[in-house]
Amino acid sequence: MSETSGTSASTPKLRAELDGVPTYKPGKPAAADGPAAFKLSSNENPYPPLPGVMESALAAAANFNRYPDMACTELAAELADRFGVPVSHIATGTGSVGVAQSLLQATSGPGDEVIYAWRSFEAYPIITQISGATSVQVPLTADEVHDLDAMAEAITDRTRLIFVCNPNNPTGTAVRRAELERFLDRVPSDVLVVIDEAYKEFVRDTDIPDGIELYRDRPNVAVLRTFSKAYGLAGLRVGFAIAHEPVAAALRKTAVPFGVSQVAQDAAVASLRAEDELLGRVGSLVAERERVRAGLVAQGWTVPDAQANFVWLRLGERTMEFAAECERHGVVVRPFAGEGVRVTIGETEANDLFLKVTEGFRQGA
Ligand SMILES: Cc1ncc(COP(=O)(O)O)c(C=O)c1O
Repeated sequence: MSETSGTSASTPKLRAELDGVPTYKPGKPAAADGPAAFKLSSNENPYPPLPGVMESALAAAANFNRYPDMACTELAAELADRFGVPVSHIATGTGSVGVAQSLLQATSGPGDEVIYAWRSFEAYPIITQISGATSVQVPLTADEVHDLDAMAEAITDRTRLIFVCNPNNPTGTAVRRAELERFLDRVPSDVLVVIDEAYKEFVRDTDIPDGIELYRDRPNVAVLRTFSKAYGLAGLRVGFAIAHEPVAAALRKTAVPFGVSQVAQDAAVASLRAEDELLGRVGSLVAERERVRAGLVAQGWTVPDAQANFVWLRLGERTMEFAAECERHGVVVRPFAGEGVRVTIGETEANDLFLKVTEGFRQGA
């Protein structure tokens, strides 16, 4: 049969870069039945939407026969005002992971290198490989922190983009101001550094810098933020970058047209206006994080500094056994086989249940 007849048995030609792309593993959902099951596997915000935010979202939903405002005009203006940056420096997307993918598309392709710590956010290797660029993974230090010196040494003339995940997912650790500034001073000005601050609002250590301050006088620094965590809009998919021109302009070119729904845009604007209440909730989650971490340390666990909305337990070979034990007790965590588990700070009841499991596991060990 001829190749052009349309009935050839061969399959459509797909890009070779897709071979072996790891699939993103979403946090496992809580069981629909059985004992009260809590999902502590996706770093979500356990609080339900605020009534005012819900109202804005529902009002926008009434018009979903229309396309959304493609430029996210109102949201971008609110963000520019909130952070004291030019509106042309704001680029929105379908969650910060959507913006991260746009950053890859804007900077990197076959033959280019993208540096990031490992282990870190699991989307980095996926979106890098999809772009055709090569991942350069730099192991975390023994304290589970970015090894910024090693990352600086990994820069070559092929490096196009560097992710600094601060605080880092899944370890919760963060780099300090002086070391990050020293690192940025070592990066060539034509290499983009993306400071991924998905968990910024949960940071309490004052020595951890605000990426937006670092971006201001560094044209090669971009900051990623999201409404998914502190603001509780994970299901609506809206995040943004703050970046100088021409990076922000390139992000607007590579973004999926109309990617951010009007429901998401209006809910994000309403969330910014209800920030005091939302950040109050973040304060409660941080208090819970400190309580959980202290409880774990009292039980004898080694827990790295936790600056996000989760804790990290390095369990090595016992990781999957521990995750199964949690699940048996109604708590779903996020295991990374052979490495450790990441456990999101959730409702007090869920956190208490988790601490009970950790205590039993240590005693049984
Ligand atoms: C470090 C980091 N960056 C980005 C994201 C993406 O969040 P979203 O796409 O929901 O904004 C996550 C989500 O888990 C994350 O952990």
